[in-house]
Amino acid sequence: MKNILNAPFVQEMKDATANMYRLGWDERNGGNISYLLDESEVAEYLDLSNVIRTIPTGFDASALIGKIFIVTGTGKYFKNVEKDPETNLGIVRIAKDGTTAELLWGYKDGGKFTSEFPAHMMSHISRLAIDKNHRVVMHSHPTYTIAMNTVCSIDEKEFTHKLWQSNTEAIVVFPDGVGILPCMVCGTNEIGEATAEKMKNFRLVIWTNHGIYGTGTSMDEAFGLIETVEKTAQIYMLTLGHVVNVIPDEVLKGLASLWNLKPLDGILK
Ligand code: 13P
Ligand code: ZN
Repeated sequence: MKNILNAPFVQEMKDATANMYRLGWDERNGGNISYLLDESEVAEYLDLSNVIRTIPTGFDASALIGKIFIVTGTGKYFKNVEKDPETNLGIVRIAKDGTTAELLWGYKDGGKFTSEFPAHMMSHISRLAIDKNHRVVMHSHPTYTIAMNTVCSIDEKEFTHKLWQSNTEAIVVFPDGVGILPCMVCGTNEIGEATAEKMKNFRLVIWTNHGIYGTGTSMDEAFGLIETVEKTAQIYMLTLGHVVNVIPDEVLKGLASLWNLKPLDGILK
């Protein structure tokens, strides 16, 4: 059996959490990541018949029975993942009953997965139905995204248009736009269900006054989506009240046609 601390998926979790912390997106225990793993790859590092303990999910995750995820722990600080992955991360498999998670590794101090586990698992279900290669759900608290969401309407099309108008990369990276939920109580099944509903149409979902979710087929893709929204929101906020030039719809259409993209309907004139 190989040493799990050398597994590429553990390294990816360490790198992502360290980068997110250093970018100032994830203060204290802010943010969480879940990453769907390939069973055969995990089997190189862990005895999959050895369940350390079981943890109730609190919702029906039947659509994910048998699937294995590496997930950040609740209350754990992203800045600490790199130096102690076995305490701050866990690897869980959704059990046959669909309402229990079997701990295969990690949460060494008796901890458990993120309080946003419902939003993560329900979002995985939505995204896997659209793209069988989907793997990562990433949640973060990036400053400028939250600031822009605070001063703008939460109308998804208006908000997406403002982002596209502020940075030519935006429409290229997320032509499908950004979904937005109103301010809700986090850590609940209810916000999980609302997020998963948005994830049927969007790879990016903003939680008003809270943060953002990004998804993707890889850690880089989910990270890159959030990174591009955050960079664009930063430009928007730095120029707010002083704007002279926004990217015209004609140029946005030209970018979409250059890159063979279908921008979200109902935005460009
Ligand atoms: P956890 O520490 O439970 O992951 O919660 C952090 C967070 O960002 C809540 O939305
Ligand atoms: Zn959060």
